[in-house]
Amino acid sequence: MKVAVFSTQSYDKQYFNLVNEDFDHEFIFLEPALNADTAILASGCRGVCVFVNDKVDAKTLEILHQNGTDTIVLRCAGFNQVDLDSAKGLGINVYRVPSYSPEAVAEHAVAMMMTLNRKTHKAYNRVREGNFSLERLIGFNLNGKTVGILGLGQIGLAFAKIMQGFGCKVIAYDPVVANAPANVTLVNLDTLMTTADMISIHCPLNDHTHHLINQNRFEQMKRGVMLINTSRGAILDTHAAIEALKQGKLGYLGIDVYEQEDKLFFRDLSESLIEDEQILRLMSFSNVLITAHQGFFTTEALTEIAQTTLQNLDAAESGQSTGNKLT
Ligand code: NAI
Repeated sequence: MKVAVFSTQSYDKQYFNLVNEDFDHEFIFLEPALNADTAILASGCRGVCVFVNDKVDAKTLEILHQNGTDTIVLRCAGFNQVDLDSAKGLGINVYRVPSYSPEAVAEHAVAMMMTLNRKTHKAYNRVREGNFSLERLIGFNLNGKTVGILGLGQIGLAFAKIMQGFGCKVIAYDPVVANAPANVTLVNLDTLMTTADMISIHCPLNDHTHHLINQNRFEQMKRGVMLINTSRGAILDTHAAIEALKQGKLGYLGIDVYEQEDKLFFRDLSESLIEDEQILRLMSFSNVLITAHQGFFTTEALTEIAQTTLQNLDAAESGQSTGNKLT
């Protein structure tokens, strides 16, 4: 299938071309993100491939449809960026990669926890400058602490397994999951908020989870709590997080995702003026760690994403059914 790949980075090209040796698709790699202004670039392409910050809204879908696109393949798990009802109405088939490497994201969440706690990022810089002092590097033992998981799906479960290895007490809130694995206790949201020493977000972004972590939730949390978000930026109310950091209520914040990340992430802005006041404020806190949506970024995950995406294109061409189809 001829496919326009939006928001292309060098690694997308590398892994898609490598995996395509076993398939037979034709890729047009495009750097711009997909939106109503750029949709015209996919003219003549039956397929369109998108990532997390492409805007696949009703207007964009209409333009794609008018120009011959009937298949959209997401090279990610979350699908909050796509208006599925509009796609369905236009007869556009949408596929995603529901699972590629939950461990990749879970391990990144743990990496953020460990960095924030033991301050290895600061120690690294200090030692390079010949500063061997331990002042202000004190951390805490994870062993015996309570970690709360929001969303006990694939990534939440992988994260739970790792935290059990650290000797943590693991509690989780998930409105859908009825049975948790051994040593993971399902609790309600209020209990999770009030008892966890560390909270890690692993639920999808939707109407119910938008700003799920807000001022009221911060008020419930323990003073000095650690919060990690590797899921989607808008699950966390950034303004409320900044206020909680200022008041010392939030002791540590690790985010791999950010509400306004579509204007920042996946590009080098080191020589540009950053106009996003909220990210600048977050960057000013020494107890905040920001990574630019790299939870998925492992060799294993990139290979799996490319393989499943190309299989989804095969399925679209042949009409065979697959559990990866959203519409
Ligand atoms: P999943 O679908 O396996 O699990 C999500 C879980 O969240 C489900 O068990 C669901 O019942 C639960 N959930 C739904 N509403 C909830 C609520 N209101 N409160 C608590 N739990 C709720 O999804 P998976 O694969 O574990 O991925 C989770 C999220 O991680 C994705 O939606 C995506 O946004 C994010 N993600 C981030 C990546 C990164 O690079 N940072 C990469 C891949 C996914």
